Amino acid sequence: MPAVLVIHGPNLNLLGTREPDVYGQTTMDEINARLARFAATCGIDLDCFQSNAEHELVERIQRSAADGTDWIILNPAGLTHTSVVLRDALAAVGLPFVEVHLSNPHAREPFRHRSMVSDLAAGTIVGFGADSYLLALQAVVNRIEPPG
Ligand code: DQA
Repeated sequence: MPAVLVIHGPNLNLLGTREPDVYGQTTMDEINARLARFAATCGIDLDCFQSNAEHELVERIQRSAADGTDWIILNPAGLTHTSVVLRDALAAVGLPFVEVHLSNPHAREPFRHRSMVSDLAAGTIVGFGADSYLLALQAVVNRIEPPG
């Protein structure tokens, strides 16, 4: 069964109450539940991980190299704009990933316009709120080769 790892970066555990005008009212648990329901219908093994700590995100990415993960869906949150170490971890592991954002960082403050990971990503999906994650999973499903 193809395996997809969803990684949520810092502060995304606060979704639902955090700046709802920017990020919407859907909680991270609800996003994960929606993804899990969609994954189940597609025969995808889904694992979701969140951390506020950069090193834990790096360690989870490193583990994905050996735990059977086929694709990563990643919202690096604020680390998008700053983290060389997250970028290095993704490059080291070499798994294909989709970068997602709930908001459209390009329509926000200039410091959000730069992503440290976009050029490594298979694609990016931004600006569709919680749907950004579901659109990313749909894109991954379309790219996973059927068995046999
Ligand atoms: C975010 C956008 C980032 O700029 C911000 O720091 C976040 C969330 C998004 O999903 O829109 O924490 O990644």
